[in-house]
Amino acid sequence: MTTQISSLEEYQQLYKESTSDPEGFWGKQANTFTWFSPFDKVCEWNFEEPRVKWFLNGKTNITYNCLDRHIATKGDQTAILWEPNDPNAAVQTYTYKELLAAVNKCANALKEMGIGKGDRVIFYMPMTPELAIGTLACARIGAIHSVVFAGFSAKALADRVNDATAKMIICSDYNQRGSKNIPVKQVVDDALALGCPSIETVLVHQNTGGDINFNETLDKWWHDVVDAQSDQCEPEQMDSEDMLFILYTSGSTGKPKGVVHTCGGYMVYTCFSFRNVFQYKEGDVYWCTADIGWITGHSYIVYGPLLAGATTMMFEGVPTFPDAGRFWAICEKHKVNQFYTAPTAIRALMAKGDEWPAKYDLSSLKVLGSVGEPINEEAWNWYNEHIGKGNAPIVDTWWQTETGGIMITPLPGVTDTKPTYASYPMPGIQPVLVDKDGNELAGNNVEGLLCIKHPWPSMLRTVYGDHKRCQNVYFSAFKNMYFTGDGARKDEEGRIRVIGRVDDVINVSGHRMGTAEVENAINEHPNVVESAVVGYPHDIKGQGIYAYIISQGKDLDDAFRKEILGVVTEEIGPIAKPDKIQFVSGLPKTRSGKIMRRILRKIASNDTSNLGDVSTLLNPDIVEEIMEGAKG
Ligand code: PRX
Repeated sequence: MTTQISSLEEYQQLYKESTSDPEGFWGKQANTFTWFSPFDKVCEWNFEEPRVKWFLNGKTNITYNCLDRHIATKGDQTAILWEPNDPNAAVQTYTYKELLAAVNKCANALKEMGIGKGDRVIFYMPMTPELAIGTLACARIGAIHSVVFAGFSAKALADRVNDATAKMIICSDYNQRGSKNIPVKQVVDDALALGCPSIETVLVHQNTGGDINFNETLDKWWHDVVDAQSDQCEPEQMDSEDMLFILYTSGSTGKPKGVVHTCGGYMVYTCFSFRNVFQYKEGDVYWCTADIGWITGHSYIVYGPLLAGATTMMFEGVPTFPDAGRFWAICEKHKVNQFYTAPTAIRALMAKGDEWPAKYDLSSLKVLGSVGEPINEEAWNWYNEHIGKGNAPIVDTWWQTETGGIMITPLPGVTDTKPTYASYPMPGIQPVLVDKDGNELAGNNVEGLLCIKHPWPSMLRTVYGDHKRCQNVYFSAFKNMYFTGDGARKDEEGRIRVIGRVDDVINVSGHRMGTAEVENAINEHPNVVESAVVGYPHDIKGQGIYAYIISQGKDLDDAFRKEILGVVTEEIGPIAKPDKIQFVSGLPKTRSGKIMRRILRKIASNDTSNLGDVSTLLNPDIVEEIMEGAKG
């Protein structure tokens, strides 16, 4: 097993070692895994191109290290514990032995259906064990999985299927989420109707048993093709740098990018970070509430915990069903030891009142995690007092889809915690703050742009099908550095606080959204002439979506607003729906025609005291009009 740090001295020592001799440090960690043939070099890199390789020429299979490796010592221990949406329905468990058998059966079925190494398989599924089993089955045979969050629209799904030229979609019939029954397979059918020529098969898991349109040529039932397979399947020999998965995420321009992660480095880093950030101990029950449709679910529901031989819980439902005590009821029911969630969920549950957590025995909790967005002080304090009762350190973990694993975080029982501070870099991670010209801001008590200096094993390798975009977005802003897109500050003692995005990406309830993407969706409405989208502070969601819209030929009423929300839901999904829409007659623009988003952000945030000099705008008068309109 990878090192588990247990004291501050050890952290400091290891951190030093990991930066003075990264290859030695990561080589040692990597050698704790099973390799079918050993790597002959630890790291080779060049951020100009970029070209990053870890554990060169090593051959392994991540599922061997997640499953087979544990069978001898913990074959009968629970690997996945599944809590269904309905609190009265049966919990499901898979021991390591059972999970290996289930993965192998699914892997054999995929092979039988013509899926092989390098083929792309899209998942559009709720949080059922089959989602974890299916992704692991892909990894078993070297197929590349790409999970699309099941809240995205048919159009968004089709875009991702086509970008990845996937051969197969794996979905469920329906998804029971809270009191809603969502027709998942119907969305897949709608996506196919938009045109997904590469799809040869749709594998349907029967989740609720509701009626679906069964297409005899494309569709196959999971229970028909998976259940009868052999439970033995040799793992494919994967090169360290073979692709493991693609995960789409939003950027500041254009369509979502397919972030590519590879087998070896991702394996080493997710296991190492999981063991240290959550201080997982034998017998603990670990629960991350994320959806596997996001990176948090990939790294810290599936891969990290299983690599570490942990018991990882998957929850199908939502925090407020059947009531606002659900999370805490589950913590009590399963005696959860490590609990990992997003600030937006904490704020939403905090707003429901202290009486909800007070009803439950939360004494099993040892570590509380936060991820996805900055956590405000009030939410941090509530989490600490009402959930952890002051006994469970909060790990405010900063990272990104692109980083693959947690980068900056306190380590419970090892380093201190401070509200709103992600605090300290993980061993092997070298964050720096730079000014806009790329000069490193040395010392403490500084504020700047967050970059990472040296590669780490789980960093993205490319953007699927568009390496140039990978270079432009992450490696061209500053020489020899990975640019995160975030702004951050260091306190007097060097702890890091991540403030938020400095680009045109907004973070709504911990979900990343490109303003350009939302604008493109709004602009699909035939009566919209132009739009500009910005984020603004929102009590529960962290940031809300504020859309300024220029339209023609329509009454500016609620019916029109509804139509716009409908278009956004159709183009992206309900998570991208603007919280506020303001109709305007123009947008503030520079003389070269660029929208001055800075001004729009200030107006949306109701912070117009210092708008700066607007006289150089092409249309300075519009600012007054928009400010007036915002009041109404
Ligand atoms: O702005 C940062 C914010 O979320 C962005 C990454 O989003 P995504 O790729 O969807 O991954 C989310 C889950 C890892 C970052 O650029 N972010 C994430 N965690 C934190 C955070 N901002 C502040 N504090 C955090 N702990």
